[in-house]
Amino acid sequence: MNFRALLCPVLILGLALSCGEARQNKPGEQAGRTIDIPEPHRPQFHFTPPSKWMNDPNGMFYLDGEYHLSYQYYPDSTVWGPMHWGHAVSKDLVSWEHLPIALYPDSLGYIFSGGSVVDHQNTSGFGTKAVPPVVAAFTHHDPVGEKAGTTDFQTQSIAYSLDKGRTWTKYAGNPVLKNEKGIRDFRDPKVIWHQDSRKWIMTLAVYDKVEFYASTDLKSWEYLSEFGIPGDTRLWECPDLFPLKATGTGETRWVLLVSIQKEAPNGGTATSYFLGDFDGERFLGNPEDQRWLDWGTDNYAFVTWDNAPGGDSERLGIGWMSNWQYAQEVPTVSWRSAMTVPRVLQLETDGEGYVLRSNPVAALEGLRGPKTALPMLQIRGEQEVSGSFTPSKCEIILKTDLTQTTAELYGITLSNNAGDRLILGFDRINNQMWLDRRGSGPKGFSGDFFKGPHTAPIDLGPDGDPNLRILLDVASIEVFGENGRLNFTEIFFPSEPYDTLTFWADDGEWALESSTIYSLKSIW
Ligand code: FRU
Repeated sequence: MNFRALLCPVLILGLALSCGEARQNKPGEQAGRTIDIPEPHRPQFHFTPPSKWMNDPNGMFYLDGEYHLSYQYYPDSTVWGPMHWGHAVSKDLVSWEHLPIALYPDSLGYIFSGGSVVDHQNTSGFGTKAVPPVVAAFTHHDPVGEKAGTTDFQTQSIAYSLDKGRTWTKYAGNPVLKNEKGIRDFRDPKVIWHQDSRKWIMTLAVYDKVEFYASTDLKSWEYLSEFGIPGDTRLWECPDLFPLKATGTGETRWVLLVSIQKEAPNGGTATSYFLGDFDGERFLGNPEDQRWLDWGTDNYAFVTWDNAPGGDSERLGIGWMSNWQYAQEVPTVSWRSAMTVPRVLQLETDGEGYVLRSNPVAALEGLRGPKTALPMLQIRGEQEVSGSFTPSKCEIILKTDLTQTTAELYGITLSNNAGDRLILGFDRINNQMWLDRRGSGPKGFSGDFFKGPHTAPIDLGPDGDPNLRILLDVASIEVFGENGRLNFTEIFFPSEPYDTLTFWADDGEWALESSTIYSLKSIW
């Protein structure tokens, strides 16, 4: 987020609250509590906060059968404000139980983004080997220092839990890493255990690059190196570094995830990645080879779970399903923002090198209800598709016969009686997938939201991968193509639920070898 632009109003709100002034109630709120009101855009199988504002996923770890998910949370408003870590757990990454807030702001500042690790060897000394501590590393953001124009108001701190994340104690020696370089943007620590050097490695976003630090006890940190793109001036946020063993070759590459504040492929903010090696001190990757993890507008701050089962060729992660361009304006009432579905990252060769692919975690298949399996279809013009599903909450699996498809453009449209339309198209001339949400719902909350159509490169030629998997959940679409190499995530806000699904083809035929549509159950 661009704090330069946003912190002033937020600070005013923070001060007003601490002075005990009455806050203006928002629609749907009564003093002190949120009343139940119909929430037409609440996703049914995506994680959302119980109420109020949420942004980045934070502090994710797995322990004793539970996946923990914390998140940037402001429990007093539906716009960004003094940050806490909200908290939830899941046994399967599908159903979530909300837990009390894990970390509250304190005299060192708001609690910004970061990651947690399970300290199995008790290197920190906070627990024992029998009861290993979970240690959260996060940024303390001091709004007073910021307002005073200092440059050292973001520092790194830690907290630990000895009861499976239920309660957290902040370390008395915080901050563990001060900001001494005069660079204001110094945040979002993500820590991993590096087996070869037997050290903890922290990756930190420092304005337009990342820095790496090492520690043996999570308390004292030594600077190692930096990685950036020469000449880049975009703001980098929420990095993550981890190894992945490639399926097929068995070789290991290191993945550096970095979220970028502007000039994402379709505008605003998005998550990118680099591939390389990490030798314990330096990330050795090609800075000119920055790739997008997701081509849609709404997958930011994607980071991964520590200590998760699944072996060394898989890494589980989740992203914030919004974009700083309009996140604070979207028309939800008592809450704002959802996470993407949890995804499993894998590395594979594509003939020229390694690529990352991400697909929904397998456990989501447990949400499948009645199945509609359509026979081979040859779509010309428009064809409405119906079955035992509602297009506003379903999974669509399509296999196109690219050799028999003559249409230059084909795709699917979601619509409703109010005239809202969301169009997903495939353009064989330009080898592009595109999503047009310009007419997807009532306008008026953000100009940027209604720009488009948004596009992604995709191989629709004879060697292309004809399989598509699409998840629709009331107000979001997630497209997985090319076996997970193409991810495209976007949100939308129709005036009433989409109830009509249409397949269409322009100038020729779309040969659909198979179309399977599952109705999906709600997790709440
Ligand atoms: C990314 C971000 C982080 C920061 C947090 C504050 O969305 O700007 O860099 O820690 O949000 O909420």
